[in-house]
Amino acid sequence: MILELDSVAKTYRTKGRGDVEALRPVQLPIPEGSFVSLVGPSGCGKTTLLNIVAGLLPPTAGRVLFEGQPLAGPSRDMGIMFQRAVLLPWRTVEKNVMLPAEVFGQEPSSMQERVAETLEMVGLTDFSNALPQHLSGGMQQRVALARVLAYRPKVLLMDEPFGALDEFTREAMNVELLRLTRPAGITVVFVTHNISEAVFLSHKVVVMSPRPGRVTGVIDVPFDDPREIDVMRQQTFTELVFEVRELLNKEESRSGVPAEVEGA
Ligand SMILES: Nc1ncnc2c1ncn2[C@@H]1O[C@H](COP(=O)(O)OP(=O)(O)O)[C@@H](O)[C@H]1O
Ligand SMILES: [Mg+2]
Repeated sequence: MILELDSVAKTYRTKGRGDVEALRPVQLPIPEGSFVSLVGPSGCGKTTLLNIVAGLLPPTAGRVLFEGQPLAGPSRDMGIMFQRAVLLPWRTVEKNVMLPAEVFGQEPSSMQERVAETLEMVGLTDFSNALPQHLSGGMQQRVALARVLAYRPKVLLMDEPFGALDEFTREAMNVELLRLTRPAGITVVFVTHNISEAVFLSHKVVVMSPRPGRVTGVIDVPFDDPREIDVMRQQTFTELVFEVRELLNKEESRSGVPAEVEGA
């Protein structure tokens, strides 16, 4: 297991709102090279869990093991990507991808070749010198993806990275994400509230529910790799999507509060 969540739990202590139990203890082994999605409606603790795995947020209880060692903070072996690309608007595409090297105190020129190679991989070579404002949302996310991949992470953590993109662009990005991570053996933990996206991409779909946030089921996805978009046409695909949705609905009716689930 490259990552192991060992009874990881989180309660936020707030002024005024009291304690918020964001996450009940989660037990989750993540095999090296696997793709794991966390799905569930807003407020079920997806971002909380991802930030704990990233070492950005300390859990209230439990621990995260990364390569067998307790995680104490952010690791350079993990890359993280958010819903918005968070690019510096005054820097070119290439200079944005170069940024982490500078932050790590690496000589930027030592990264030049690898940055060029990564931009080529994500199809942005012709835009190396463009400014982010001249790129579409999908292309900006490609830059953000290049910016993590250039540093060869072992683990890629993604928090609804394609949530702001239109359906067509999102599908294209999904196919591309598989092409860029699977052969490289990168482990991916991917947050989404889109059920079919989760089933298409993942080896394992972790279903979560809110109030309080917790894991309510883990569904294994048996499709072979490499996957192309046409796996969505298989009956097994439809059945798995349905299974995830049922698990979400069951929890929703139990809590009596409607959950916001899109894209299923
Ligand atoms: N910094 C914080 N302080 C207090 N409560 C928080 C904080 N961050 C998140 N929460 C609460 O924790 C719960 C889980 O939030 P979050 O992890 O953002 O869920 P998701 O990403 O699934 O939408 C929600 O009830 C949210 O309001
Ligand atoms: Mg979130």
